[in-house]
Amino acid sequence: MSFRTIEWRDDTVIMIDQTRLPGEEIYNTYSDFKAVAEAIRGMIIRGAPAIGVAAAMGIALGARDIIADTHDSFFRQLENVCDVMARTRPTAVNLFWGIERMKRVAEANRDKKLPQIKDILKKEAIRIEEEDQTICRNIGKWGATLIPEGASVLTHCNAGGLATAGYGTALGVIRAAHEAGKNIQVFADETRPWLQGARLTAWELMKAGIPTTLISDNMAGFFMSRGEITCCVVGADRIAANGDTANKIGTYSVAVLAKENNIPFYVAAPVSTLDLTLSDGSKIPIEERPASEVTHIKGIAIAPAGVTVRNPSFDVTPARYISAIITENGIVKADYLSGLRRITGS
Ligand code: MRU
Repeated sequence: MSFRTIEWRDDTVIMIDQTRLPGEEIYNTYSDFKAVAEAIRGMIIRGAPAIGVAAAMGIALGARDIIADTHDSFFRQLENVCDVMARTRPTAVNLFWGIERMKRVAEANRDKKLPQIKDILKKEAIRIEEEDQTICRNIGKWGATLIPEGASVLTHCNAGGLATAGYGTALGVIRAAHEAGKNIQVFADETRPWLQGARLTAWELMKAGIPTTLISDNMAGFFMSRGEITCCVVGADRIAANGDTANKIGTYSVAVLAKENNIPFYVAAPVSTLDLTLSDGSKIPIEERPASEVTHIKGIAIAPAGVTVRNPSFDVTPARYISAIITENGIVKADYLSGLRRITGS
């Protein structure tokens, strides 16, 4: 990969600033947990698995800076650090997965001295980042088997290296098919309002040398109806036990269009994106973001001042529209309720 999404270096956290791409490739340095929380909220780093890694690294920074005489005081303050992280963004379950994993590790090492616990938390955060790269490669390997030679693959939002510790989930599938020598091309939805597709997916795929065509969101049906799309592959922010999937706003429309046009619609996500505690997608909390993301582009107003705006950041695609869910442990098809449990060994 020719860029690094997030990395632990010299006891700081380095992130590529995704709000500045594709114009500028700038790496920010974070040395305290509140700044990491702000970076998640402000979309400096975004994408479900990347948010999980950032939360873990933020907790490691927070733990390092705790001044405590007793274990009770340390664990009370660590809880506060975790709460700050948990309040950043509500939909991507990987955030909460990362927080819970860090809490569990701290708890399991409660009998150790505080400097040791701090060191263990740092190592765990680094491990989460490294594991995510391997997980994405495995998602890619499984997913590539679904992509035929000569395919035109439509994707929505950015589920690439930028949305993970590297390689990507949906884009991991595309990268793996490309690396396997398949002659494929990508249609990237621009993904209003934040433009993850135009700004990030197009940037990543061009860097990787994968032929990419950028389209605005309302063009997907046009290309599908003309037989120009072979399949769709998207990422996920949270997958409920029945397979209903929350992903970037507009994903649901793509899935409905795909079904209408008999085009396979695949979701690629790590097991850490599964939330089997939720029976279906109606229970997934959906983040609403500021109106300015809809009314303005790069600070320029494109709507009348004072207009009423809604800006849900995610929607839920019902499982019946999903042809398969691709995870690092394998490919699951309906019935998702049993398939997802089987794949997680639960
Ligand atoms: O608001 P964002 O940019 O964090 O939303 C990102 C998405 O919806 C991605 O498709 C999803 O997180 C999967 S990333 C591998």
